[in-house]
Amino acid sequence: MSEARRIAIGENAQVSIIIPTYNESNNIIRILKSIGENLPKNVIAEAIVVDDNSPDSTGKIVDDYLKNVKKIAGYTMNIIHRTSKNGLSSAILSGVQRAKGDTIVVMDSDFSHPPQIIPKMIESLKKYQCDLVIASRYIRGGKINGWTLKRKLMSKIATLIAKKGLGVKTNDPMSGFFAFKKNILKGINFDAIGYKILLEILVKKSEIAVKEIPYTFENRRFGSSKLDRTIVTDYFKSVWKLYKFGKPKEKEEKRNSVRFLSKASRFYTVGLSGFGINYFISLLFSGGISDLWYLHATIIGIVVSITTNFLLNKTWTFGDRDFSTKKTFKQYGKFVTFSSLGALVQLAMVFYLVDEYQLSYPVSLGLAVLTAAFGNYILNKKFTFKEKVWG
Ligand code: GDD
Ligand code: MN
Repeated sequence: MSEARRIAIGENAQVSIIIPTYNESNNIIRILKSIGENLPKNVIAEAIVVDDNSPDSTGKIVDDYLKNVKKIAGYTMNIIHRTSKNGLSSAILSGVQRAKGDTIVVMDSDFSHPPQIIPKMIESLKKYQCDLVIASRYIRGGKINGWTLKRKLMSKIATLIAKKGLGVKTNDPMSGFFAFKKNILKGINFDAIGYKILLEILVKKSEIAVKEIPYTFENRRFGSSKLDRTIVTDYFKSVWKLYKFGKPKEKEEKRNSVRFLSKASRFYTVGLSGFGINYFISLLFSGGISDLWYLHATIIGIVVSITTNFLLNKTWTFGDRDFSTKKTFKQYGKFVTFSSLGALVQLAMVFYLVDEYQLSYPVSLGLAVLTAAFGNYILNKKFTFKEKVWG
């Protein structure tokens, strides 16, 4: 045993390793031992098992074990018993609350996360002067062993959603294996639904310095995964919440004129995209994926592009994320009405200008298109999305 280790006994931990368990009777003692064996020699560490009253008596097994061995030089072990299965994220937070260390490591109990790389994770926090080190499967040198194609695909899709949808830069934001300085959690208001505590940290504290190091994820040998359909729905719920979380800030403090114009430019960008979608979908249905009569294909193109226009304007242009069914349909109805109205106004105006005012067709058309487009924006802004016209 090294000198540092011996001195450490009885002192407060520097590193707290949090290990949530639910039905891990065949893993938990072995992982506790393995963590102890793999800890870097110069740190004082504690393991905190957070068990949710596992029916397979994981909690009892740990209690019994701790009666005999509670402390190995510089390494203490504890357990938190919670009364019922409350989810992985919230288990981790319970562990953090109890943690004495200023560095926290979070890992699974089923040997998917190799304890061998814990020292490297802790070192990396210092070496790269970062706040969060993620053990990553999706960077060079990282790997997954033993997963079905379906599970791999699910993981990839979830990762893609996090990166594209939430703008997360990390390559493996779904990782369950990470180390961080406890103080980065200050000020975060956690929703803690499902599994995705790391993602929540990444989104809510986007300013922290993050480093990823590669590892190989080994599928568990004993017990079974707790990732079920609820966890997947929970994932979508939390992505949605995190998505909304990112938005409201940028709205404030801008001048009305800036807001009016930037929304207008988004509105017309959406309009342009509508042309593209309309064209593409119509072609697609008149030969691409099915061979509809070209007029039917055109109708489909129109309906689809009006719908995408509506959805993009709702979420992107006007930042309205309330999708309650009744409200959404009402808005959709208005949007369609104003679009058709715009077309009628345009037609009427062209006729009037050419016929009554003897203006040339190109000039008349230009004026009519501008009027219709402008009216469309104003009407939808005011009546469909219930905003002030100016602002
Ligand atoms: N206390 C508690 N409560 N622990 C739980 C709960 C819970 O509700 N649900 C799961 N756990 C524990 C398990 O006992 C295990 O130690 C760890 O959390 C991970 O659960 P698994 O069921 O083994 O998850 P997985 O292997 O399918 O998923 C792993 O890989 C994912 C990456 O795709 C986890 O590391 C995920 O966090 C990770 O996102
Ligand atoms: Mn697992």
